[in-house]
Amino acid sequence: MQKDSSGRSGAPDSTLDLPAFFLVPDIIMNNTLNHTIHSRILTLLFRAPNHCLSIQDLTRDVTISRPQAETLINEIKMAGIPIETTGNTYTLIDPEDLLSPWGFDSETQNKILHYLQVPSTMNMARIMAEQGAAHMSCCVAEQQSAGRGRMDRTWLSPKGGLWFSLILRPQSPPAQAYIFNFAAAVSLHAAIRDLYGLDARVKWPNDLLLDGKKLTGLLSEIQIKDNAIRYLITGIGINVNNTPVSTPRGLAPISLKAALGKPVPRRPLLKAFLSNFTELSSAPDIPGIMASWKSCSATMGARVTIETHNRTVIGTAVDVDDSGTLIVRTPDGKKEEIIYGDCFHT
Ligand code: BTN
Repeated sequence: MQKDSSGRSGAPDSTLDLPAFFLVPDIIMNNTLNHTIHSRILTLLFRAPNHCLSIQDLTRDVTISRPQAETLINEIKMAGIPIETTGNTYTLIDPEDLLSPWGFDSETQNKILHYLQVPSTMNMARIMAEQGAAHMSCCVAEQQSAGRGRMDRTWLSPKGGLWFSLILRPQSPPAQAYIFNFAAAVSLHAAIRDLYGLDARVKWPNDLLLDGKKLTGLLSEIQIKDNAIRYLITGIGINVNNTPVSTPRGLAPISLKAALGKPVPRRPLLKAFLSNFTELSSAPDIPGIMASWKSCSATMGARVTIETHNRTVIGTAVDVDDSGTLIVRTPDGKKEEIIYGDCFHT
């Protein structure tokens, strides 16, 4: 059974029907991640002196022909990773931005799979999880062709953004699965504050806003068996260097590039998030995480309209309790508890 990770009543159950071809790839072989050929090429470029490699070295090291090398390099460029071609050599222009595993520390690099494009990192992460991927394995893609948002919405994922899904295998009972979403939002908030000095605010349940505009979104799915979490997939989308597109009823979006007035490399952001999240989620201190969440929340005290699958609640958000439930005081003085829904600050 797959559910939204709130795992509580009121959250829509959704089974994910993966097309047959999704089940084909051997993402994990002999307990090792099976990296794409693009990723292997990017590794060679990343490791080469001055990130510069001749086509002869490339064809020899990856055992491909010259036309194949040219096609693959072209595909990498098309995905938004800048590579300069000068005569017979290729140079990786922005190594700090590269999300290939070899830019990460040795423990993390064994857990990252990097794709130029996938339909959704959620689906890939699910395949990885079913094939036995370890706790904190991560699928990251330059682009998603069928990115998914909360409430079955489409999540547009063009090049330049940071789109990834993490596989968690926590010891926690299913009823506490929600805490990993709150820990992820707190970890992202801290990463953005520490790296860029920006004070992003969390909107219940887990969006990060900058100047009231949507910077990041979080989607999470859970697999439960015999009343235990088999795995949890936490998917995060961050508008970094992409131009985010407004959606009809959605909040106006913003990117880090727009907020800072310059492009930012994505790897330090993913690294900082993973480091914060590893620390917060290893033995989750629920009251501590919820207190941190409240201290960076834009929802606490705000006038809100909450839309759930069967009702709309309007009032003032007076609290979020330690189970992540939003408490709204309505104009007639009643307190409504909301465990899952869309929150609009009004
Ligand atoms: C939302 O705010 O609606 C949640 C958006 C979550 C988007 C991320 S991008 C990486 C991962 N893959 C997906 O298809 N969705 C999540």
